[in-house]
Amino acid sequence: MKDVFGYDQYRHQQEQIVDTLVKGQDALVLMPTGGGKSLCYQIPAIARPGVGVVVSPLIALMQDQVNALNQLGVKAAYINSTLSAREIEQVKQQALDDELDLLYLSPERLVGEEMQGFLQRIKVALFAIDEAHCVSQWGHDFRKEYQNLSMLHEQFPEVPRIALTATADQRVRKEIVKQLQLDDAEIFISSFDRPNITYAIEEQESGKQQLWRFINDNHPNDAGIVYCLSRRKVESVAEFLSGKGRKALPYHAGLSNKIRERNQHQFLMEDGIIIVATIAFGMGIDKPDVRFVAHFSMPKNIESYYQETGRAGRDGQPSNAWMAYNYQDVVMQRQFIRDSDAADEHKEVLHNKLDSLVDLCEQLECRRQTLLRYFDEVLEEPCGNCDNCLNPPEKIDASKEAQMAMSAIYRTEQKFGIMYLIDLLLGNDNDERVSKLKHDQLNVFGIGKDHVKTWWRRLYRQLISQGYIDVDPEHGSLLLTDKAKPILKGDESFYLRDVVKAKNKSKKAEEIDLGRHDTVLWNALKKLRTDLATDQGVPPYVIFSDASLLEMVRKRPVEGEKFMYISGVGEYKLAKYGDVFIQVIKDNPLPKKLDNRLEDEVNVTLDHFLEHKSVETVAEVLDLNLNTVYMHLSKAIAVGLVDKKDVTGLQDEDIDYIIQMAEMTGYLEDKKMKPVFDALDGMYDYGTLRCVLAELE
Ligand SMILES: Nc1ncnc2c1ncn2[C@@H]1O[C@H](COP(=O)(O)OP(=O)(O)OP(=O)(O)O)[C@@H](O)[C@H]1O
Ligand SMILES: [Mg+2]
Ligand SMILES: [Zn+2]
Repeated sequence: MKDVFGYDQYRHQQEQIVDTLVKGQDALVLMPTGGGKSLCYQIPAIARPGVGVVVSPLIALMQDQVNALNQLGVKAAYINSTLSAREIEQVKQQALDDELDLLYLSPERLVGEEMQGFLQRIKVALFAIDEAHCVSQWGHDFRKEYQNLSMLHEQFPEVPRIALTATADQRVRKEIVKQLQLDDAEIFISSFDRPNITYAIEEQESGKQQLWRFINDNHPNDAGIVYCLSRRKVESVAEFLSGKGRKALPYHAGLSNKIRERNQHQFLMEDGIIIVATIAFGMGIDKPDVRFVAHFSMPKNIESYYQETGRAGRDGQPSNAWMAYNYQDVVMQRQFIRDSDAADEHKEVLHNKLDSLVDLCEQLECRRQTLLRYFDEVLEEPCGNCDNCLNPPEKIDASKEAQMAMSAIYRTEQKFGIMYLIDLLLGNDNDERVSKLKHDQLNVFGIGKDHVKTWWRRLYRQLISQGYIDVDPEHGSLLLTDKAKPILKGDESFYLRDVVKAKNKSKKAEEIDLGRHDTVLWNALKKLRTDLATDQGVPPYVIFSDASLLEMVRKRPVEGEKFMYISGVGEYKLAKYGDVFIQVIKDNPLPKKLDNRLEDEVNVTLDHFLEHKSVETVAEVLDLNLNTVYMHLSKAIAVGLVDKKDVTGLQDEDIDYIIQMAEMTGYLEDKKMKPVFDALDGMYDYGTLRCVLAELE
């Protein structure tokens, strides 16, 4: 684990899974996207004698993994249609000579007669069936060829098999076991929580500008993925973002293979690119430093949403999953389902799945609790890391208004659209149909004057997306569903989510706050990484992940021995890259002052103070309150790194006076600040006092 992969700790149940395989037993592994499934078969494949054969559905995915493994000094190869006959022979020869640890194959090639014959001639360490949900008709990526994989058990009964997937569904799980004959496999189910992802979902109000605000505020330089429903929208969003100065590339089924491959390749190889894609993009892509996934259209269900958002933050660093949905998306998705040629009972399932997603969007409680509950997992406490936890939205009891809105529909015989209905509620009779149909005599006419037009629109939208109201796809008229009755009768309440209020308090980016000097080193390390990657024609992250670089910045290891402790540094990478990275760290030293034992955040504050010389400016730049800045600086004063006079701006007399008072109130013994503060009649605030008294500690 450490020697080859450079990691110190197993994640989830990796260790038990590895043990199971090494012992020669079968395993079924359910772990979330980016959870670390690959190691579960890679380590046993290296540890067991022979070649580990990995079944993988996509060519790009095989290449990715083989690249990364070669970087670690692991002998891995793939056989697929991109290789020439000669290259295939070479790989086979390596396997025969026992010079391979891992061999990646597509399912159709693996079950082919030729390959089966070949595998009988070599020693197979294990079979790993990645993305195993492809075997299931209920999975979202059904692949017929996967169903032939049951033959592995028949042909190689003594070789251990491991099936891996990120799809949790009970039904899919059962089908994997059945189809792959994994009845004796040990089953490992990990938590599906991805704690480093911050979830946020908002209603679409200002279209692309809203998307831009999210990206620009939170991720001005980061790589990310934007998902849209249609090709047209993909194109226009990619163009829009490019116009804003970001490198944004489209990816959808309407583009030629060549362009798609090129765009994906660039996304992997270069830093800070945004891919704008339909859902077809991303399966199995292990780009660990995708910092955000934005849904600019509503996905079709929670499974897809979770899989797509799961592509953010595979390296474990803080990342954002953001969605801006639109009630038209819901109407459109419903339409897709209605028009599809699925059986009625299957349509019902699809509608229900969409409902669950809409519930999630309209949810006023913790998003993560809702998501995990959907995957049958209980999170006891609200997570503290989703929009609803960070800025709880206003809930307004709008039961009475919901009744008004829906009785307007009922009274007008479900024949009118939103705008007309709102006019009635507001008592507008501009539309000539109002008097002609005597709608101005209805009791709903003019009863909604307490709210403005946009408020009513929002209410209708939420009633629609939560399924109380349907929209007639042809005429746009609103229809009441069965769900509407209990609210009309007053048996159920309806709460409106007040998005406007919630959004005004929008959340600050969780970015890495590096001091000035750390930023210099960070950029130098990234440059070295890019140069090395370009030379070798591999993506930068296979050299080292962002997480590893960040740890180098924080710990600044300047000897091989210490460098070895950085997560992601194994023996091979130490030998290959240790010297050059250490050199860059040496070339960008910290000024003497900052090379100390204080906490990182204190040093960041100190660094900024040395630059700006003003507590107020530091507070503003770092978005900290004054008290915190004083607190940090008092620690630096205590160890003599900065002068208390510079920090507090006080004269010697003031300082002496404060110290005198402190002595009189017994501060030296009990370290209580309040008596000092009171004795000075509140003339100096606590922050200032803390700094003046810091050296007395
Ligand atoms: N124990 C660990 N410590 C640190 N990083 C790890 C650990 N295990 C795996 N990783 C890293 O986590 C990332 C995701 O791993 P991996 O590609 O195996 O995910 P996965 O479970 O196969 O996801 P997907 O379902 O999307 O294919 C990789 O960059 C991998 O190197
Ligand atoms: Mg994987
Ligand atoms: Zn939460």
